[in-house]
Amino acid sequence: MTSIRTEPGNQICIGDSVFTRLNSLLKTERFTSLFILADENSMNHCMPELVARVPKLLEAEVVEIESGEINKNIETCTQVWMALSELGADRKSLLINLGGGVITDMGGFVASAFKRGIAFVNIPTTLLAQVDASVGGKTGVDLGSLKNEIGFFAEPEEVLIYPGFLKTLDPREYVSGLAEILKHGLIADKDYWNRCYEAELQDVGIIGDFISESIRIKSEIVTRDPKESGERKKLNFGHTVGHAIESLFLERGERTLLHGEAVAIGMICEAYISTRMAGLSEDCLNEIKENILWYFSFQELNAMDDHRILELMRHDKKNSGGEIRMVLLEDIGDSVYDKTVSTGLILESLKYYRSLA
Ligand SMILES: NC(=O)c1ccc[n+]([C@@H]2O[C@H](COP(=O)([O-])OP(=O)(O)OC[C@H]3O[C@@H](n4cnc5c(N)ncnc54)[C@H](O)[C@@H]3O)[C@@H](O)[C@H]2O)c1
Ligand SMILES: [Zn+2]
Repeated sequence: MTSIRTEPGNQICIGDSVFTRLNSLLKTERFTSLFILADENSMNHCMPELVARVPKLLEAEVVEIESGEINKNIETCTQVWMALSELGADRKSLLINLGGGVITDMGGFVASAFKRGIAFVNIPTTLLAQVDASVGGKTGVDLGSLKNEIGFFAEPEEVLIYPGFLKTLDPREYVSGLAEILKHGLIADKDYWNRCYEAELQDVGIIGDFISESIRIKSEIVTRDPKESGERKKLNFGHTVGHAIESLFLERGERTLLHGEAVAIGMICEAYISTRMAGLSEDCLNEIKENILWYFSFQELNAMDDHRILELMRHDKKNSGGEIRMVLLEDIGDSVYDKTVSTGLILESLKYYRSLA
């Protein structure tokens, strides 16, 4: 088992012994009642093993919501609060969030607001949630089309990561989560990137070590800058271009693009921009492009959409005053943030991506 300490008192555990850890936590009798928030997929695929290995959870009340980002909103929260209330939850109840990033984001928010805050534990069951969403204290829900507009910073009692849950994950969802793992190497740790480069990350059997390393990198950054006033912005590498492309595909509605698939394109474009503005070498760019395209198939991007992509970037809440700012790489493992990039160079990077077809 790997155990990583983040904020004082908060532990992230990875591996088989997460179940022992949860058994111990529940034995402390700190909690008057137990609740589990799940969606139909984590309910079917993860709940049976969880309850078999943590029998005390047979006493828990399960609140099940429908899966999907579309349900990550305040209306669903109201339903969960009503259920908690009707089932007699009090200030000493514990909420266990079992699911992907939608469940851990929304469950953390629900728990933090219920009776001014009850304890919660995250048990992330997608790769994205294990390496990213369940760590770092951001909780929240969407407001209409505005993502994560409403929320709190709140830390779970524990983050319990069991890579075994990933076996039932849709392979496309799994690969999408790899984008964040590759990002962690690129922004902060060249050795880690090299290990990612040499490994077959599709293999769930070896992914546990990479999950712990990724969490270590994210936690170190978040501990230094919890509220994203500076260094935490580095975690947005690939996301300036990536988010705009994700929104474009949503608008067009022809093909779907998962978050990690969009970030993969974004990382290639932003690495290209890094060679022009931050001194990243051509060799590094080639290595980055090669490794990303190994996992993420090339996506057609119509040049006619380039200006819409720029417009979406200007509207991104992370940019202001019409300027587009990004995280750039000076080298693999070395990043800088808040770099203003010209629209001409962004267009050039999209052209570069298209040349990789
Ligand atoms: N808080 C943060 O710092 C942070 C960071 C990154 C992303 N996020 C949020 O995370 C969310 C995306 O997370 P996600 O990709 O996990 O999405 P998700 O929660 O929608 O899960 C993806 C799909 O996988 C299913 N699923 C979950 N576990 C499964 C399993 N073990 N086997 C089979 N199917 C399973 C889910 O039901 C869902 O259909 C977004 O809302 C995003 O805003 C938050
Ligand atoms: Zn992301």
